[in-house]
Amino acid sequence: MGIKQLARWLQESGYTVVLTGAGMSTESGIPDFRSKSGWWRNIDPGTVASIEALERHYPLFHEFYSTRIKALSTIQPHQGHLILADWERHGLVRCVATQNVDGLHQAAGSENVLELHGSIRSVRCQGCDNPALMDDFLAKKPCPTCGGRLRPNVVLFGEMLPEDAWNEALANITRADLVLVIGTSLQVYPVNQLPSVTRGRIAILNAEATDMDSMFDLVIHGKAGQTLKSIDELLKTGNT
Ligand code: NAD
Ligand code: APR
Repeated sequence: MGIKQLARWLQESGYTVVLTGAGMSTESGIPDFRSKSGWWRNIDPGTVASIEALERHYPLFHEFYSTRIKALSTIQPHQGHLILADWERHGLVRCVATQNVDGLHQAAGSENVLELHGSIRSVRCQGCDNPALMDDFLAKKPCPTCGGRLRPNVVLFGEMLPEDAWNEALANITRADLVLVIGTSLQVYPVNQLPSVTRGRIAILNAEATDMDSMFDLVIHGKAGQTLKSIDELLKTGNT
């Protein structure tokens, strides 16, 4: 019942925003963070993905991010990413606001993507803020300009989110008729506040229950790729 209702809401909505998390990328082979096979099951995020890790445990920080960056060369968007991009082209989705740093929405063809936690596809110097070469980061070289430490352009624990992406996500979600949240536990502030700021309907598609399910107008527990495929088929056959 849930997917038929969501298909109908997608058709009725004049302004749909999609908000995604790590669960959107697990079917592409990238682990999420907090489910039973997630990154944070074996690693304390503070020791690898925080400002403190960058400043005081650079070898660990560098290993964590360089491993994730190298893995991207074999990672492809899955059917769910491709369907969201197709829905954008057909005017069913206005933009995708994502907590993911893997660039898979853009690789699938989504154009209006707001990267709320940055991206691991580019690096900069922590000292002088200049953009740097990915090869220099992977080779653990210092910044050629100031000798400082190189880091990916992700939002580390304790850092502020990129202001432009945050403000644009806030503006889009505030005016949305429908916000579709996909593949996130909604445990991280401030992104987990976004669904509540909309005046429209809010739906969540997640593999497991989240602490915020009760605030949603529609809750679907399922896999992102498979479920989006089923909804797309309902939309294509007009069976909504
Ligand atoms: P947190 O408790 O540190 O708060 C989230 C961050 O958002 C804080 O740094 C805070 O200053 C900032 N913030 C709060 N309100 C804001 C606003 N209105 N506009 C912009 N920024 C605002 O959360 P956390 O769980 O410690 O994580 C901090 C951030 O680091 C999160 O966004 C988290 O997702 C991110 N992170 C990213 C990765 C990665 O690999 N990309 C890994 C770990 C953490
Ligand atoms: N389909 C749907 N949901 C899925 C799938 C899937 N194929 N795979 C996993 N999930 C769900 C999990 O059940 C989990 O509830 O996605 C959710 C992912 O939640 P987290 O692992 O907490 O990831 P996320 O919410 O994106 O984390 C937010 O925390 O560490 C930081 O910066 C990091 O951006 C991340 C932020």
